[in-house]
Amino acid sequence: MALARAAAAAVRAFAALGAALVLAPQVAQAQASSPAAQTPATRRAACDACHGADGISRQGGVPSLAGQPRLFLENRLVLIREGLVDVPTMKGLLEGVDDAELVALARHYAALPPPPPAVPRDAARAGRGERLAERMLCGSCHLSDQRGRDQIPRLAGQREDYLLATMRQFATGQARGRDTTMAEAVRGLADADLADLAHYLATLAGAP
Ligand code: HEC
Ligand code: HEC
Repeated sequence: MALARAAAAAVRAFAALGAALVLAPQVAQAQASSPAAQTPATRRAACDACHGADGISRQGGVPSLAGQPRLFLENRLVLIREGLVDVPTMKGLLEGVDDAELVALARHYAALPPPPPAVPRDAARAGRGERLAERMLCGSCHLSDQRGRDQIPRLAGQREDYLLATMRQFATGQARGRDTTMAEAVRGLADADLADLAHYLATLAGAP
Protein backbone atom coordinates (compact mmCIF):
# COMPACT_ATOMS: atom_id res chain seq x y z
CA MET A 1 0.00 0.00 0.00
CA ALA A 2 2.80 2.38 0.92
CA LEU A 3 4.49 1.61 -2.35
CA ALA A 4 1.31 2.34 -4.21
CA ARG A 5 1.30 5.75 -2.54
CA ALA A 6 4.95 6.21 -3.40
CA ALA A 7 4.22 5.31 -6.98
CA ALA A 8 1.32 7.73 -7.02
CA ALA A 9 3.63 10.45 -5.75
CA ALA A 10 6.11 9.54 -8.46
CA VAL A 11 3.46 9.75 -11.12
CA ARG A 12 2.31 13.10 -9.75
CA ALA A 13 5.86 14.42 -9.78
CA PHE A 14 6.34 13.03 -13.26
CA ALA A 15 3.28 14.82 -14.54
CA ALA A 16 4.42 18.07 -12.96
CA LEU A 17 7.90 17.72 -14.35
CA GLY A 18 7.25 16.32 -17.78
CA ALA A 19 8.88 19.22 -19.55
CA ALA A 20 12.03 19.09 -17.46
CA LEU A 21 12.33 15.35 -17.99
CA VAL A 22 12.34 15.61 -21.74
CA LEU A 23 15.51 17.62 -21.31
CA ALA A 24 17.13 14.90 -19.23
CA PRO A 25 16.78 11.67 -21.23
CA GLN A 26 20.00 10.22 -19.90
CA VAL A 27 18.49 9.32 -16.54
CA ALA A 28 18.66 5.59 -17.16
CA GLN A 29 22.29 5.60 -18.20
CA ALA A 30 24.30 2.56 -17.20
CA GLN A 31 26.78 2.83 -14.39
CA ALA A 32 30.38 1.80 -14.07
CA SER A 33 29.81 -0.50 -11.11
CA SER A 34 26.92 -2.79 -11.86
CA PRO A 35 24.22 -2.32 -9.20
CA ALA A 36 22.87 -5.80 -9.92
CA ALA A 37 26.15 -7.25 -8.69
CA GLN A 38 25.55 -5.65 -5.28
CA THR A 39 23.81 -7.42 -2.44
CA PRO A 40 21.48 -5.53 -0.06
CA ALA A 41 24.31 -5.54 2.50
CA THR A 42 26.94 -4.05 0.20
CA ARG A 43 24.43 -1.51 -1.02
CA ARG A 44 23.58 -0.45 2.55
CA ALA A 45 27.29 -0.10 3.24
CA ALA A 46 27.47 2.33 0.30
CA CYS A 47 24.53 4.33 1.67
CA ASP A 48 26.16 4.42 5.10
CA ALA A 49 29.43 5.70 3.63
CA CYS A 50 27.69 8.91 2.58
CA HIS A 51 24.69 9.21 4.93
CA GLY A 52 26.44 7.83 8.05
CA ALA A 53 26.10 4.37 9.61
CA ASP A 54 23.84 5.99 12.22
CA GLY A 55 21.93 7.81 9.48
CA ILE A 56 23.52 11.10 10.54
CA SER A 57 25.49 12.73 7.74
CA ARG A 58 28.88 14.28 8.35
CA GLN A 59 29.33 15.34 4.75
CA GLY A 60 28.41 18.68 3.24
CA GLY A 61 25.42 18.49 0.92
CA VAL A 62 24.44 15.01 2.09
CA PRO A 63 21.23 14.88 4.14
CA SER A 64 20.82 12.92 7.37
CA LEU A 65 18.24 10.15 7.05
CA ALA A 66 17.88 9.04 10.69
CA GLY A 67 14.38 9.44 12.06
CA GLN A 68 12.87 10.60 8.78
CA PRO A 69 9.30 9.40 8.26
CA ARG A 70 9.41 6.04 6.49
CA LEU A 71 6.97 7.09 3.78
CA PHE A 72 9.00 10.19 2.95
CA LEU A 73 12.13 8.05 2.52
CA GLU A 74 10.25 5.49 0.39
CA ASN A 75 8.92 8.21 -1.88
CA ARG A 76 12.33 9.81 -2.31
CA LEU A 77 13.99 6.46 -3.00
CA VAL A 78 11.42 5.56 -5.67
CA LEU A 79 11.83 8.97 -7.30
CA ILE A 80 15.63 8.69 -7.25
CA ARG A 81 15.51 5.13 -8.62
CA GLU A 82 13.18 6.21 -11.43
CA GLY A 83 15.45 9.14 -12.29
CA LEU A 84 12.70 11.65 -11.45
CA VAL A 85 14.95 13.16 -8.80
CA ASP A 86 18.47 13.67 -9.99
CA VAL A 87 21.07 12.82 -7.36
CA PRO A 88 24.23 12.49 -9.46
CA THR A 89 26.22 10.87 -6.67
CA MET A 90 23.53 8.19 -6.15
CA LYS A 91 22.92 7.52 -9.82
CA GLY A 92 23.07 3.84 -10.65
CA LEU A 93 23.15 2.69 -7.05
CA LEU A 94 19.40 2.10 -7.00
CA GLU A 95 19.00 0.96 -10.57
CA GLY A 96 17.07 -2.30 -10.71
CA VAL A 97 16.67 -2.45 -6.92
CA ASP A 98 13.24 -3.90 -6.17
CA ASP A 99 10.52 -2.25 -4.10
CA ALA A 100 10.99 -4.64 -1.18
CA GLU A 101 14.59 -3.55 -0.75
CA LEU A 102 13.66 0.15 -0.97
CA VAL A 103 11.04 -0.40 1.71
CA ALA A 104 13.61 -2.16 3.89
CA LEU A 105 16.10 0.69 3.41
CA ALA A 106 13.46 3.28 4.28
CA ARG A 107 12.39 1.31 7.35
CA HIS A 108 15.99 0.96 8.52
CA TYR A 109 16.80 4.69 8.41
CA ALA A 110 13.38 5.75 9.71
CA ALA A 111 13.89 3.62 12.82
CA LEU A 112 17.28 5.16 13.74
CA PRO A 113 17.29 7.79 16.51
CA PRO A 114 16.92 11.28 14.99
CA PRO A 115 19.96 13.54 14.86
CA PRO A 116 20.84 15.84 17.75
CA PRO A 117 21.17 19.55 16.86
CA ALA A 118 23.45 19.67 13.82
CA VAL A 119 25.39 22.80 14.83
CA PRO A 120 25.78 25.05 17.91
CA ARG A 121 22.93 27.52 18.17
CA ASP A 122 23.28 31.24 17.56
CA ALA A 123 20.39 32.59 19.64
CA ALA A 124 19.73 35.67 17.50
CA ARG A 125 19.63 33.78 14.19
CA ALA A 126 17.64 30.89 15.64
CA GLY A 127 15.18 33.34 17.19
CA ARG A 128 14.60 35.05 13.84
CA GLY A 129 14.22 31.64 12.20
CA GLU A 130 11.73 30.49 14.81
CA ARG A 131 9.56 33.58 14.39
CA LEU A 132 9.60 33.10 10.62
CA ALA A 133 8.69 29.43 10.95
CA GLU A 134 5.74 30.42 13.12
CA ARG A 135 4.62 33.17 10.78
CA MET A 136 4.98 30.95 7.69
CA LEU A 137 3.17 28.03 9.38
CA CYS A 138 5.92 25.49 8.61
CA GLY A 139 4.66 23.45 11.56
CA SER A 140 1.21 23.05 10.03
CA CYS A 141 2.76 20.43 7.75
CA HIS A 142 6.11 19.51 9.35
CA LEU A 143 4.51 19.49 12.87
CA SER A 144 5.26 22.00 15.60
CA ASP A 145 8.53 20.30 16.60
CA GLN A 146 9.43 19.86 12.90
CA ARG A 147 9.68 16.09 13.17
CA GLY A 148 7.64 15.50 10.00
CA ARG A 149 5.08 12.81 9.31
CA ASP A 150 4.08 10.50 6.47
CA GLN A 151 5.37 12.05 3.24
CA ILE A 152 6.51 15.24 4.98
CA PRO A 153 10.18 15.25 6.05
CA ARG A 154 11.74 15.85 9.44
CA LEU A 155 13.57 19.18 9.47
CA ALA A 156 14.74 19.19 13.11
CA GLY A 157 18.47 18.44 13.29
CA GLN A 158 18.93 18.20 9.53
CA ARG A 159 22.22 19.60 8.19
CA GLU A 160 22.06 23.37 7.91
CA ASP A 161 23.74 23.46 4.48
CA TYR A 162 21.31 20.89 3.10
CA LEU A 163 18.26 22.71 4.47
CA LEU A 164 19.43 26.00 2.99
CA ALA A 165 20.32 24.51 -0.40
CA THR A 166 16.97 22.73 -0.58
CA MET A 167 14.96 25.82 0.36
CA ARG A 168 16.86 27.86 -2.24
CA GLN A 169 15.83 25.28 -4.83
CA PHE A 170 12.19 25.54 -3.75
CA ALA A 171 12.33 29.35 -3.73
CA THR A 172 13.82 29.55 -7.23
CA GLY A 173 11.62 26.85 -8.76
CA GLN A 174 14.55 24.47 -9.26
CA ALA A 175 13.39 21.68 -6.97
CA ARG A 176 13.08 18.85 -9.48
CA GLY A 177 10.87 15.96 -8.43
CA ARG A 178 9.50 17.80 -5.40
CA ASP A 179 6.02 18.44 -4.16
CA THR A 180 4.96 21.90 -5.34
CA THR A 181 3.42 22.86 -1.97
CA MET A 182 6.90 23.77 -0.72
CA ALA A 183 7.47 26.40 -3.40
CA GLU A 184 4.36 28.13 -2.04
CA ALA A 185 5.58 27.77 1.53
CA VAL A 186 8.80 29.73 0.98
CA ARG A 187 7.39 32.24 -1.48
CA GLY A 188 8.48 35.81 -0.82
CA LEU A 189 11.27 34.93 1.62
CA ALA A 190 14.65 36.62 1.15
CA ASP A 191 17.83 34.55 1.13
CA ALA A 192 18.73 35.85 4.61
CA ASP A 193 15.35 34.58 5.84
CA LEU A 194 16.04 31.14 4.39
CA ALA A 195 19.43 31.14 6.13
CA ASP A 196 17.82 31.99 9.48
CA LEU A 197 15.20 29.28 9.00
CA ALA A 198 17.89 26.72 8.13
CA HIS A 199 19.86 27.66 11.24
CA TYR A 200 16.81 27.42 13.50
CA LEU A 201 15.77 24.02 12.10
CA ALA A 202 19.29 22.56 12.16
CA THR A 203 19.65 23.47 15.83
CA LEU A 204 16.36 21.88 16.90
CA ALA A 205 16.69 18.61 18.75
CA GLY A 206 13.18 17.45 17.96
CA ALA A 207 11.29 14.52 19.43
CA PRO A 208 11.75 11.00 18.03
C1 HEC B 1 28.06 9.18 -2.89
C2 HEC B 1 27.23 9.62 -1.80
C3 HEC B 1 25.85 8.99 -1.64
C4 HEC B 1 25.53 7.65 -1.61
C5 HEC B 1 26.45 6.45 -1.81
C6 HEC B 1 24.12 7.57 -1.31
N1 HEC B 1 23.59 8.83 -1.20
FE1 HEC B 1 21.65 9.27 -0.78
N2 HEC B 1 22.04 11.25 -1.12
C7 HEC B 1 23.28 11.80 -1.39
C8 HEC B 1 23.13 13.22 -1.63
C9 HEC B 1 24.26 14.20 -1.97
C10 HEC B 1 21.75 13.52 -1.50
C11 HEC B 1 21.07 14.88 -1.62
C12 HEC B 1 20.84 15.22 -3.06
C13 HEC B 1 20.14 16.54 -3.17
O1 HEC B 1 20.81 17.56 -3.14
O2 HEC B 1 18.91 16.54 -3.23
C14 HEC B 1 21.10 12.25 -1.17
C15 HEC B 1 19.74 12.11 -0.95
C16 HEC B 1 19.13 10.97 -0.47
C17 HEC B 1 17.75 10.88 -0.05
C18 HEC B 1 16.74 12.02 -0.01
C19 HEC B 1 16.76 12.61 1.39
C20 HEC B 1 16.02 13.90 1.56
O3 HEC B 1 15.98 14.40 2.71
O4 HEC B 1 15.48 14.43 0.60
C21 HEC B 1 17.56 9.59 0.37
C22 HEC B 1 16.27 9.00 0.94
C23 HEC B 1 18.79 8.87 0.19
N3 HEC B 1 19.74 9.73 -0.32
C24 HEC B 1 19.00 7.54 0.50
C25 HEC B 1 20.13 6.80 0.13
C26 HEC B 1 20.24 5.37 0.21
C27 HEC B 1 19.18 4.44 0.79
C28 HEC B 1 21.46 5.05 -0.30
C29 HEC B 1 22.04 3.66 -0.54
C30 HEC B 1 21.26 2.82 -1.46
C31 HEC B 1 22.13 6.29 -0.66
N4 HEC B 1 21.28 7.33 -0.39
C32 HEC B 1 23.41 6.39 -1.15
C33 HEC B 1 24.47 11.11 -1.42
C34 HEC B 1 24.61 9.72 -1.41
C1 HEC C 1 1.59 22.69 2.93
C2 HEC C 1 2.53 21.83 3.68
C3 HEC C 1 3.92 22.40 3.91
C4 HEC C 1 4.27 23.59 4.50
C5 HEC C 1 3.37 24.70 5.02
C6 HEC C 1 5.73 23.60 4.55
N1 HEC C 1 6.23 22.45 4.01
FE1 HEC C 1 8.20 21.98 3.79
N2 HEC C 1 7.71 20.27 2.83
C7 HEC C 1 6.41 19.82 2.61
C8 HEC C 1 6.46 18.59 1.84
C9 HEC C 1 5.27 17.76 1.39
C10 HEC C 1 7.83 18.32 1.61
C11 HEC C 1 8.41 17.15 0.82
C12 HEC C 1 8.59 17.63 -0.59
C13 HEC C 1 9.08 16.55 -1.50
O1 HEC C 1 10.13 15.95 -1.22
O2 HEC C 1 8.43 16.32 -2.51
C14 HEC C 1 8.58 19.40 2.24
C15 HEC C 1 9.96 19.49 2.22
C16 HEC C 1 10.70 20.47 2.87
C17 HEC C 1 12.15 20.52 2.89
C18 HEC C 1 13.11 19.51 2.25
C19 HEC C 1 13.64 18.59 3.34
C20 HEC C 1 14.34 17.34 2.86
O3 HEC C 1 14.89 16.61 3.70
O4 HEC C 1 14.37 17.04 1.67
C21 HEC C 1 12.48 21.64 3.60
C22 HEC C 1 13.88 22.13 3.92
C23 HEC C 1 11.25 22.27 4.03
N3 HEC C 1 10.18 21.52 3.56
C24 HEC C 1 11.17 23.41 4.82
C25 HEC C 1 9.98 24.07 5.12
C26 HEC C 1 9.92 25.34 5.81
C27 HEC C 1 11.12 26.09 6.36
C28 HEC C 1 8.60 25.71 5.85
C29 HEC C 1 8.00 27.01 6.36
C30 HEC C 1 8.58 28.22 5.77
C31 HEC C 1 7.84 24.64 5.21
N4 HEC C 1 8.71 23.68 4.79
C32 HEC C 1 6.47 24.64 5.07
C33 HEC C 1 5.25 20.43 3.03
C34 HEC C 1 5.16 21.69 3.60
